[in-house]
Amino acid sequence: MGARTKSKLAIIGAGSVGSSLAYASLIRGSARRVALYDIDGKRASAEVLDLAHGTQFTGSSSITGGDDISVVADADVVVITAGAKQEPGQTRLDLAGTNIRILEQLLPKLVEQAPDAVYMLVTNPCDVLTVAAQQITGLPRERVFSSGTVLDTSRLRWLLAERAGVATSAVHALIVGEHGDSELPLWSQATIGPVPILDWELPDGSRFTEQQLDEIATDVRTAAYRVIEGKGATNYAIGLSGARIVEAILGDEHAILPVSTVLDGYHGVSGVALSVPSIVDRSGVRSVVEVAMSPREEQQFADSAAAVRASLDSLGL
Ligand code: LAC
Repeated sequence: MGARTKSKLAIIGAGSVGSSLAYASLIRGSARRVALYDIDGKRASAEVLDLAHGTQFTGSSSITGGDDISVVADADVVVITAGAKQEPGQTRLDLAGTNIRILEQLLPKLVEQAPDAVYMLVTNPCDVLTVAAQQITGLPRERVFSSGTVLDTSRLRWLLAERAGVATSAVHALIVGEHGDSELPLWSQATIGPVPILDWELPDGSRFTEQQLDEIATDVRTAAYRVIEGKGATNYAIGLSGARIVEAILGDEHAILPVSTVLDGYHGVSGVALSVPSIVDRSGVRSVVEVAMSPREEQQFADSAAAVRASLDSLGL
């Protein structure tokens, strides 16, 4: 259990994402204590009760919560999932104005309760909200970031593993940039085991073509729309992604994960939050990891930065 022994995770928002993140955290033992806050006290209390009823079967964690902001007190990590969610066909960037207004109300109260916590945004558009949250709280960059493309990278690895006939853990590939329509895979750095992606022999004896990789990238980029179309929201995979990041923080793991922080001269990008490989530990995002990009990837990364920058400009951030 290590550094996680007495750790407290506070989740803001008891909707499908927040409750799934709480559920995943309890099952994985991501935190010793989990608190679930929502302005809808009835919903928060019901989710807490339902989760608590299963704690006989989970890691040794406790679950509390409700609509009193003091449930957040002294949290080590605060994960924000509250806010408007994508409707079918809506982009994540469309949610920016509404959800920034929620952050403006919420963050000062949260920081008062948990001044030393690491703050992770899951609410979308998470890259834009990361910049807004850092400005609202004035907290250092390493303590305000978002789950970014950790989920997209998981989607990519699952798709590649399925096609390649290997375990997902054998796939080393990253999605970087905006957690959204402009995200991009770093194919130039992708391997399956020690084998570069384009050299991997598929079960039928063929190899990935550029077109097939482009199709896989599109599948990843549009995955959330398909899930939302069918069930109204995504929740399980983002819940698990959030729990994984929480573990890296509370376990002081120094894990390399593609979370989104406000960049400062990364491949020429500054003042915009984008996902890049980052070292995640007890302090939050310890540092970003420089990674080579092909000329095409450089251009796509710049385009992704421009998309988030345009949204920030439209909001005056
Ligand atoms: C998704 C949401 C979390 O990609 O943006 O499922």
